[in-house]
Amino acid sequence: MLSEIVKVEHLKKYFPVQKSFLEQLFTRELSYVKAVDDVAFSIRSGEIFTLAGESGCGKTTAGRVVVRLLEPTSGKIYFNGEDITKLRGEKLRLLRRKMQMIFQDPYASLNPRMKVVDAVGHPLEIHELVKGGEKKKMVLEVLEKVGLTPPEQFVNLYPHQLSGGQRQRVALARSIILKPEFMVADEPVSMIDVSLRSTIIDLMLSFRKELGLTYLFITHDLAVAKYISDKIAIMYLGKIVEMGHKEPLFRNPMHPYTQALLSAIPVPNPERERKRIELAGEVPSAIDIPTGCRFHPRCAYRTDKCSKEEPQLIEVGKGHFVACHLIK
Ligand SMILES: Nc1ncnc2c1ncn2[C@@H]1O[C@H](COP(=O)(O)OP(=O)(O)O)[C@@H](O)[C@H]1O
Ligand code: SF4
Ligand SMILES: [Mg+2]
Repeated sequence: MLSEIVKVEHLKKYFPVQKSFLEQLFTRELSYVKAVDDVAFSIRSGEIFTLAGESGCGKTTAGRVVVRLLEPTSGKIYFNGEDITKLRGEKLRLLRRKMQMIFQDPYASLNPRMKVVDAVGHPLEIHELVKGGEKKKMVLEVLEKVGLTPPEQFVNLYPHQLSGGQRQRVALARSIILKPEFMVADEPVSMIDVSLRSTIIDLMLSFRKELGLTYLFITHDLAVAKYISDKIAIMYLGKIVEMGHKEPLFRNPMHPYTQALLSAIPVPNPERERKRIELAGEVPSAIDIPTGCRFHPRCAYRTDKCSKEEPQLIEVGKGHFVACHLIK
């Protein structure tokens, strides 16, 4: 097997903006939400690669494009060395067995009228992998794996009879039943009670070894990113502004945006607390992206050059990339 399981190059996803009748009269030009705007990264087998950044920076869109739930506007996606950007039909269906995505809201992703046994076993039926009583047996096994024990007590329940944490375990069970190689986990614990988050995260971490899973993890919470990741990419308005292995990135964040995000994480020892860097203003609209460095309206270090020229992502240390004019 190749060590690089997923690779994306120049990935873009633009959503056309619906115009009102009046706007259509005055301008013919279409405008776009540039949700993902030229992003590149690669994920090695067994790695946990995290996309982090404030809400609206394009994390979910990037995750959905990578697993081909959304069509990219341009760019390339490779899975185990194969270009999957344009896969269709049967080949795409087979790929779906190997790539899964779980979402923030387990309630929305489970059909309220489906019992656990049918929800979790559904992918087996879609892919015609079971006969007769095999489905229930496999569902019981996988419920045990996600910690819903004894599994017999859960198979006949409906989603509304489960707690938030149990529902996310059911969603996890459904996503691993086909033994995928790669999973996009989109804020999987952000809607779960704080006291249960670490058990679910630890469960997901255990699948990495047990099932040989590789993750693209998505979170707005840098404390979660610090706990779970091998590598992290910080996104801002559709672009990666800093990317690297967790240790150097947390020890020495170089982009002013990363520095501000990390300064907001609480630390156990208050004497070592970094001075909190306040971010000025709101994230601008992804329809009207600032010129030059898209972070410049909020950056305390901006110079004239920053509003004119877009900084490129450059390698500043082994595997550590930063896009900022201050860094040469
Ligand atoms: N289907 C869509 N149609 C139009 N705009 C969208 C759609 N999905 C996401 N967006 C916009 O794309 C940007 C990125 O969204 P998203 O990927 O959900 O970010 P994140 O997951 O980081 O919060 C936002 O401005 C969002 O409003
Ligand atoms: S390029 Fe300029 S505006 Fe952008 S982060 Fe660096 S200093 Fe700030
Ligand atoms: Mg999101």
